[in-house]
Amino acid sequence: MTEGGGPFVRPYRPQDREAVYDVCVRTADAGGDARGIYRNPDLMGDLFAGPYLWLEPRLAFVLDDGGRAAGYAIGTADTAAFAGAFRREWLPRVTGGYPRARRPATPDEWMTELLYTPERMVLPELAGHPAHLHIDILPEHQRAGHGRALMCTLLDALRREGAGHVHLGMLTVNTGARRFYDRLGFRELAVPDAGPLTYLGRSTDTGSA
Ligand SMILES: CC(C)(COP(=O)(O)OP(=O)(O)OC[C@H]1O[C@@H](n2cnc3c(N)ncnc32)[C@H](O)[C@@H]1OP(=O)(O)O)[C@@H](O)C(=O)NCCC(=O)NCCS
Repeated sequence: MTEGGGPFVRPYRPQDREAVYDVCVRTADAGGDARGIYRNPDLMGDLFAGPYLWLEPRLAFVLDDGGRAAGYAIGTADTAAFAGAFRREWLPRVTGGYPRARRPATPDEWMTELLYTPERMVLPELAGHPAHLHIDILPEHQRAGHGRALMCTLLDALRREGAGHVHLGMLTVNTGARRFYDRLGFRELAVPDAGPLTYLGRSTDTGSA
């Protein structure tokens, strides 16, 4: 991490929350901008960013481009424990804003259903990769090495928390992200009935990054 001019990686601070939510929705459509897809502008953040910032702030890092978070890497060292804390501690904080539909039929309703089912994250095929993560960077800072820097910082932190292996779930159509993960040594994990998702995993040992 350096602060010598360009964007740099640093630990998350609570003041970054709004910017992290903004990055989240701007990259949530298979890597592209999801604003306009979801009626509730906070839904993507409340689903894919907020619970990590709230429950695992020590495992949250941002790309600082001059005071603003323009990217982030967030995760948990223990997905099963995280799913439990998500239900107990995160859901009560946000569900007031998200009525659950009996028959989900809109993009908001489908995603809201994910919010109410955190146990979906716990899959037997991923048990050997107990940590998981999310990483997103605004378009103007992509392809400049910051993703690699954010990833290495988070992998080191996950390793310090005791996780030897990490997984992630990505939309299979996000081919750009897949090339990034391939370059960083992630390999496909077989998960039956994964729907639109591909699961990838690797060691948290950055000596082999
Ligand atoms: C995916 C993402 C995090 C990668 O971060 P990045 O800063 O763009 O990637 P880096 O510049 O650090 O690239 C690291 C390596 O991956 C390669 N890479 C990254 N994106 C690539 C792409 N779209 N196509 C081909 N290779 C790519 C780079 O060439 C580089 O390889 P090298 O080290 O051998 O030169 C970032 O592009 C992003 O946020 N995209 C939109 C959101 C997204 O899709 N997130 C993932 C959701 S699962």
